[in-house]
Amino acid sequence: MNMTPTPAGFTANWLGQRVVFADGALGQLSSEVADLGAERVLLIAGRSGEASDRAADLLAGRLAARFGNVRQHVPGELAAAVAYEARRARADAIVSIGGGSATGLAKICALETRLPVLAIPTTYAGSEMTPVWGRTDGAVKRTGRDTRVLPRTVIYDPLLVAGMPPALAGPSGMNALAHCVEALYAPAADPLTSMSALQAARLIATWLPDPDSATDVGLAAPRALLWASCLAGRAFGTVGGSLHHSLCHLLGGFAALPHAPTHAVVLPQVVAFLAPSLAPELGQLADALGTSPADVAGALWDLGARCGTPAGLRALGLAEASLPAIADALCERDPASPRPVTRADALALVTAAWHGARPVHAAPSPATLSPAASGPATASSAFAAAREPVTAADLTETVLARLQATHDPRLRYIMISLIRHLHGFVADVRLTQDEWLAAVRFLTATGQISGDRRQEFILLSDTLGVSMLVDLLAGPSGRGAAGTATESTVLGPFYVPDSPEREYGSSIAERPSGEPAWVTGRVTDVDGNPVAGATLDVWQNADDMLYAVQNPDSPPGNLRGLLRARADGRFAFLGVRPTDYPIPADGPVGGLLASTGRHPWRPAHIHVIVSAPGYQSVATHIFDSASKYLDSDAVFAVKASLVRDFERHEPSADGVTAPDGAQVPEGVPPGQAWYSLRHDFLLVRADGLADSPAATPPGAQ
Ligand code: BEZ
Ligand code: FE
Repeated sequence: MNMTPTPAGFTANWLGQRVVFADGALGQLSSEVADLGAERVLLIAGRSGEASDRAADLLAGRLAARFGNVRQHVPGELAAAVAYEARRARADAIVSIGGGSATGLAKICALETRLPVLAIPTTYAGSEMTPVWGRTDGAVKRTGRDTRVLPRTVIYDPLLVAGMPPALAGPSGMNALAHCVEALYAPAADPLTSMSALQAARLIATWLPDPDSATDVGLAAPRALLWASCLAGRAFGTVGGSLHHSLCHLLGGFAALPHAPTHAVVLPQVVAFLAPSLAPELGQLADALGTSPADVAGALWDLGARCGTPAGLRALGLAEASLPAIADALCERDPASPRPVTRADALALVTAAWHGARPVHAAPSPATLSPAASGPATASSAFAAAREPVTAADLTETVLARLQATHDPRLRYIMISLIRHLHGFVADVRLTQDEWLAAVRFLTATGQISGDRRQEFILLSDTLGVSMLVDLLAGPSGRGAAGTATESTVLGPFYVPDSPEREYGSSIAERPSGEPAWVTGRVTDVDGNPVAGATLDVWQNADDMLYAVQNPDSPPGNLRGLLRARADGRFAFLGVRPTDYPIPADGPVGGLLASTGRHPWRPAHIHVIVSAPGYQSVATHIFDSASKYLDSDAVFAVKASLVRDFERHEPSADGVTAPDGAQVPEGVPPGQAWYSLRHDFLLVRADGLADSPAATPPGAQ
């Protein structure tokens, strides 16, 4: 069975692009350029010789100029030159063909000129799917995000990458893998980016070139890797980078190290450093890479080694003497890292990357709290040394590690998220001992005041908006020919099960309790078919503002009733007009409202739970449209679809017909004004489908 959890809710910024992916897709260049409305194209073409010439041929009369001077990390002078060329040629679009450097130059040109970009990648750099630009001035590489540089159209043609030598394809694939890994733990990760990143990681681990293998995989590998680079670039481009990319960009500017091999060298070391903070992500990555969570960094290193990644930054030419300055610069950049990076951490990390040894880390476990082994700090043990003293992040990870064995996957997911958020909150506000103790006292008082007649925890959830958030996340329940299903709202703390059964049209007031209100309507499915026998569990307050359960002097069944819809779905009962009322403010929740300057009032309403076999029950309210608290309900429960007018009827002279012609309901005392209200309830099937269950529910008249 697939245990992938459904996200409970998320916020994401998804990017919009046109993507053409096919063997031979380069052939569509001319029509794609025409679709952009471009007449004068600046072609930025790297060293991909034949393909560049082909692109130029395909552009034919639309080719206004060609710029071939492409270099890594986009030096500032090149940025100026390409923008000059675009203006000189009066270009109205940019086409780039080549690796990340060609795409990067096109983006910088777009940043300067605002021209649209069509990108044709010939490596796995993934830059074509991101709004990230970079340029290097002196020794500093600056990067930024700007949706104007995001290529409008991307043409992926596996035939263009098919001939890439393994020495280029390997590191390029590792660069794409770095996008996957970082997209998983970047702060803005969302379910779609994570799904894409994991799928891409799986493809890369499978298809990365293996020079030792004699099997000819034909076009399968370039297709898979190009697709993976698209997924990875898109995921990374959507959520942005973190520690790994900060460090790689820094190295790119600082020492002009080659882009893709730098990624391949740095990635395993960064993952080893972050391992204590990446409990769920390590598990997912391990699964994608086919390794254990305790050896994800090692597996990444192995993949790099398999495709010829150099042994450390030193093999790429970085001077050892520059490591302290790089560590300083990394700390200054304040990368959005899931594990805080101290100066000691930064130095240990760049040192490890410089040596390039196969990294070791443990799967997050309680052992991560034990003191580091003594002895000389090697590249890999440097991380253990950096773990002292225990940090807040270490502690969080230790707690998370204890949850790994939780059998129920949903419980595991919830508990991991709860611990992350709870620890994050405590760390965020820097909770003091006194504040923590006050919180414990508050929760204790909340429990102590709760009992059979009072539920302070529900009140707390309601006033914090949690109850309505849960309600909101359940989403709209469906619509049909007759309209949208009745919306739910808070249950509240005053629901008491086993309401007295009431006949159709009878009064639920067991003693004089306010101005009578005649409530009628129908229970149907969303297509308008009656739901015969549906039960309506009703409770409301009296004109003293109290529910029966709150008032020891009230008969316990007063203003409560269990009604059944007739065969035609109709129901009717005589209640009273409800009043606005304050939620109980004499307990800890009232104290919290007062100290945060909030009023405790709820707008007048009648509670109803409507249920029927085969249908989803709905706990809802009918709100009085005349209330002045509709906009400031203390528990955030008002929904426009639940607000109704109570129509007033003056006393009747004959006790039968009101002056406005309405028939006086039975139970309205003579000479008494009364109100009427009509409200229909629309139910959805328990299985979520629109049409009604075949069987007639028991109890139908
Ligand atoms: C109620 O409507 O009964 C209610 C709901 C939430 C908090 C307090 C009261
Ligand atoms: Fe209420």
